[in-house]
Amino acid sequence: MCYKVRGGEHGGTSLAHPVSHKKEAPSRIQTIFWLDLSLLLSICALESVSFTGLSLHEWLALAVTGLILVHLLLAWTWIAASSRRLTAAHATRTRVNYLLNASLFASFTTVIFSGLMISEVALPAFGFTSSAGDPRWNRIHNQASNFVVILAGLHLAMNWEWSVAAAKRCLGK
Ligand code: HEM
Repeated sequence: MCYKVRGGEHGGTSLAHPVSHKKEAPSRIQTIFWLDLSLLLSICALESVSFTGLSLHEWLALAVTGLILVHLLLAWTWIAASSRRLTAAHATRTRVNYLLNASLFASFTTVIFSGLMISEVALPAFGFTSSAGDPRWNRIHNQASNFVVILAGLHLAMNWEWSVAAAKRCLGK
């Protein structure tokens, strides 16, 4: 059973109206749901450096970079369709959502890049030197991580309907 959601970002994998494609959709929904839940929990952990310690923070952040790339690949149909709809009439929601997602992507890119610039564990482990301790990169990293929290919250809110439906389906409620 496959489900349709209007305006969903998961490449037509939607949950509102059951349609007849069998088998494929549930596993795709489950993949997206568990991936996104891992991302959400990882971001919460990344925001708590004093709790995780710096070493776990840096390695987890690199793993999250991979998860974000997979997340984007799975949402690629939505990204391509929305890019085409940007200039269409009556597409205000698409434009707002697109701007929000683009800002979230820019914030993620900034926090990861600035994190690498101040890396004390991961970059040296690969034999590279960083600008660890540079207060300018520290400030950029902190500010970009604040934007990530705000924008990820808004991103979740925009996709709340899909998330609740997917959670009920995947957690069997
Ligand atoms: C989504 C990705 C990331 C998020 C949300 C994030 C978030 C944060 C936050 C909230 C802090 C604490 C700031 C403070 O209160 O001082 C921090 C510190 C730090 N992060 Fe990240 N970070 C991310 C990625 C990375 C990456 C990829 C690296 C390096 C490989 C990194 C290296 C560091 C370092 C070295 C510090 C300590 C800075 C200091 O000495 O104050 N971070 N990060």
